[in-house]
Amino acid sequence: MNQKNDYIAVFDSGVGGISVLRQLVKQMPGERFLYYGDSANAPYGTKTVAQVRELSVAVAEKLLAQGIKALVVACNTATAAAVDLLREKYADLIVVGIEPAVKLAADQFPGGTVGVMATPLTTDSEKLHALEARWQEKCNIIPLPTPGLVELVEAGKAVSAESEALLRPMLAPYAGKLDAVVLGCTHYPFAAATIRKVLGEKTVLLDGGEGTARETRRRLMAADLLRDGEGVIEIRSSAEDPQMINRCWELLKA
Ligand code: DGL
Repeated sequence: MNQKNDYIAVFDSGVGGISVLRQLVKQMPGERFLYYGDSANAPYGTKTVAQVRELSVAVAEKLLAQGIKALVVACNTATAAAVDLLREKYADLIVVGIEPAVKLAADQFPGGTVGVMATPLTTDSEKLHALEARWQEKCNIIPLPTPGLVELVEAGKAVSAESEALLRPMLAPYAGKLDAVVLGCTHYPFAAATIRKVLGEKTVLLDGGEGTARETRRRLMAADLLRDGEGVIEIRSSAEDPQMINRCWELLKA
């Protein structure tokens, strides 16, 4: 494989996709990863579908110019709004999206009650409605849109008095009533401690990062594109503030 087309590109509206990158690195330590956080345009989850499609294509174009063999859309919102478009536009590229881990929750908690925390765009999306319709028989699914949490994670306040004050009114009514909560936004795993504080320490939190990494590995292996060299990670951000890149590195190590 030409070194030029050797990157696995991973993108998100901001720092959240780092929760997926860490799973990708764990499963494929010998790959070259190029992470792009579109923090200048975050949050995506309160934008229109048309805006998120436009932003996602703009990011994909930037990444393609770097020479990539796969594109991981490490953002549930961008996946819901734009993964079909990206697959159509870049038919020769491996494009992997992430979706809320509803199947995982239904398998682990048959007959249970499962909350799905996500951005408003994701909770309103056709994709999530289809997932709910598919698994509703197996468990009771409660969508929990949590606008505002992405901004706090972007600001380095995932676990803070502010995030607790934001989440308490939205989530406290469900404390002790949920068997599990699906973290349907890649920013949310970084706020896990706050979410548990509000919902109860025993709340099981599930996310799609590991499954997405597994699917990426499977697709690369099927195409004979896995690399086993020295692992490389590059992180870029659309934000002018250099602090955003530092934040990504800190979250990767968290
Ligand atoms: N990390 C994105 C997701 O998984 C957050 C979207 C946003 O920027 O609102 O949905």
